[in-house]
Amino acid sequence: MTRAARSVASPHVVSIEDFRPIARQRIPKSVFDYLDGGAEGEVTLRENCRVFNDVTFRPRHAVSLSECSMCTTVLGFKLALPILLAPVGYSRLMHPGGEVAAARAAGRAGLGYILSTISGHKLEDVREGSTGPVFYQLYLMGGRGAAEAAIERARVAGFNALVVTIDTPVSGIRERDYRNGMKELISGGPFEKIPYLPQILSRPGWLVSYFLDGGLPGLPNVIVPGKGPLPLVDVAAALAESAVTWADLKWIREIWKGPIVVKGVLTGDDALRSIDEGAAAISVSNHGGRQLDGVPASLRVLPEVVEAVKGRIEVLMDGGIRRGTDIAKALCMGARAVLCGRAYAYGLAAAGEAGVDRAIEILRVDLERTLRLLGCASVGELDRSYVNVPQSWEAG
Ligand SMILES: Cc1cc2nc3c(=O)[nH]c(=O)nc-3n(C[C@H](O)[C@H](O)[C@H](O)COP(=O)(O)O)c2cc1C
Repeated sequence: MTRAARSVASPHVVSIEDFRPIARQRIPKSVFDYLDGGAEGEVTLRENCRVFNDVTFRPRHAVSLSECSMCTTVLGFKLALPILLAPVGYSRLMHPGGEVAAARAAGRAGLGYILSTISGHKLEDVREGSTGPVFYQLYLMGGRGAAEAAIERARVAGFNALVVTIDTPVSGIRERDYRNGMKELISGGPFEKIPYLPQILSRPGWLVSYFLDGGLPGLPNVIVPGKGPLPLVDVAAALAESAVTWADLKWIREIWKGPIVVKGVLTGDDALRSIDEGAAAISVSNHGGRQLDGVPASLRVLPEVVEAVKGRIEVLMDGGIRRGTDIAKALCMGARAVLCGRAYAYGLAAAGEAGVDRAIEILRVDLERTLRLLGCASVGELDRSYVNVPQSWEAG
């Protein structure tokens, strides 16, 4: 076992939450808070996790299961667990392995991986790293020209689906990032950086690996025609100029012939619009509480969306998944699979690829135990009969 793997083995890390103090210790505060934090008062961020407590289980006891199946398919792609690793921008700042490490771990475990547009690694390297399905998450930053080039590269490299995120017309305000001087550290001059340097210098191990990795990564998958790769410093401004609209979705559908997942649906109406625009799946998501603070937790709106969709397309969900029981509850309420963001990103920040392996292992063991305790032989059989859902949720 490597040193990194030992550092996140039991008893150091028994649950996903246990990664947080290790990650906090390894990476600078500015990077940790970027990963850990949410928008404004972080109400939605907290609610995403808390709301799972409102749903309780109805187990079937005295059932002996010889086998428990956790396999499923998403868009026809086989998954060993009903999990895809969610797009997490700037993963390479958390650990040099970044997106490639996460994709490799996902492939090894038979999970899907979704690569963010805001990636420090080339999409070709990420695709090559994984033996499982890999989807490309698209923002239109850099304009349609940059997006078209990325879509073509994703097609040639063998990406299996596009994920179009619709909840980011501008970046949400993550107050921790302002307090930590994230903007000054990324784009400021030397004098502007000075007040924020002590927290960076206090993590020499991270700092050495960051410089050995070449320093601030650019965005090798956002090639602006006539200009080259979009520098990381321009991300916020580029996002603000590139809201994805339904008209864009139509355009994307013309140039991408594979399946499209619309990520960021929070109402039945947007779910129906996604179907009209040709989505093959949607992800019920509030971007992990990082965009509009005050929107409901993802799990809370899942019943409304599932009811509106009526089985016509696959419904995924993300937000607040930290345990196997959370995954089981989401599946009971109609999700086909879940996307996990922070659950694996904490692992990546704590121990690189070994940390992502460990995060996946925790969720896998957790989910199998949950199925056995519920007396349910497979994830495909999980349905509303296994949970008590508050009556007020039924109204939509
Ligand atoms: C650090 C960080 C960066 C993210 N970057 C992106 C991104 O580039 N594109 C995107 O669609 N979602 C992004 N997300 C949102 C995730 O894909 C996902 O919706 C969210 O993390 C789910 O909530 P969870 O972290 O509680 O699992 C990001 C989330 C985090 C935590």
